[in-house]
Amino acid sequence: MVSKRNFLKQFFKERKVVGAVSPSTKFLGEKMLASIDFDKARHLVELGPGTGVFTDIIIQRMHKDAKLLVLELNNDFYEKLNKRIDDPRVQVIHDSAENISKYLEEEVQTKQDAVISSLPLMVFSAPLRQAVVDAAYACIRPHGNYVQFQYSLQSKKFLENIFKTVKVTFTVKNFPPAFVYSCQKK
Ligand SMILES: C[S@@+](CC[C@H](N)C(=O)[O-])C[C@H]1O[C@@H](n2cnc3c(N)ncnc32)[C@H](O)[C@@H]1O
Repeated sequence: MVSKRNFLKQFFKERKVVGAVSPSTKFLGEKMLASIDFDKARHLVELGPGTGVFTDIIIQRMHKDAKLLVLELNNDFYEKLNKRIDDPRVQVIHDSAENISKYLEEEVQTKQDAVISSLPLMVFSAPLRQAVVDAAYACIRPHGNYVQFQYSLQSKKFLENIFKTVKVTFTVKNFPPAFVYSCQKK
C-alpha cells in the first residue's frame, strides 16, 4: 500500500518519466518474463524497475552465476530499490536507459541475453525513444530477447522496424490492462 501511494506521488512529480499511476501486478511480471530461459541466461538488463515488481521475480529466477544490471532514472525509486536489494549478482544504477553500455564490462557489451523494459516509450520524445531502444538493441546478443510492456499497441510498428520478430500478447490482470511485446534480435 505504501509503495502504491508512493508510486502515485512519483507519477504526479514526474509524469513523463514514471508513465503509470501504479506498480504493475505480479501477473504482468510473469507474462513479461515467460520468454526468458533463466537456466541459460547469464546477462540480463532491466530498464525502469520502479518499485521492483519485476526485479524481485527476476532475482528469484536468475541463475546463481547470472548478472542483472538495472537502470532507473527516478531518484526516489532508485534510492529505495538500491537500499532494498542486497544481492551481489545485481547492480542498480541511477541513470537513463540509453546509457546502458556505460555500465557493462567491455567483454559483455554485446552479449546480453535479455533486456526487460517497462519504459513508457510512447510518452518519450521520438529521439529519446529511438536512443533507448537502439542502446538496448546494441547490447543484446544475436537471437536474444527484448521484452517491453505498454498500455497500447502504438509501439508495434516502431519495434517491428528494429527487431526480427515481435510477438504481442495482452492481459487484463493489470491496471491498466497491458500489452506485452516479446521481441527477438536477428
Ligand atoms: C511504467 S513505470 C514501470 C515501473 C515498474 N517496472 C512496474 O512495472 O511497476 C516506468 C518506469 O521507468 C522509469 N523510467 C522512465 N524513463 C526512464 C529512463 N529514461 N531510464 C530509466 N528509467 C526510466 C520510471 O521512473 C519508472 O520507474
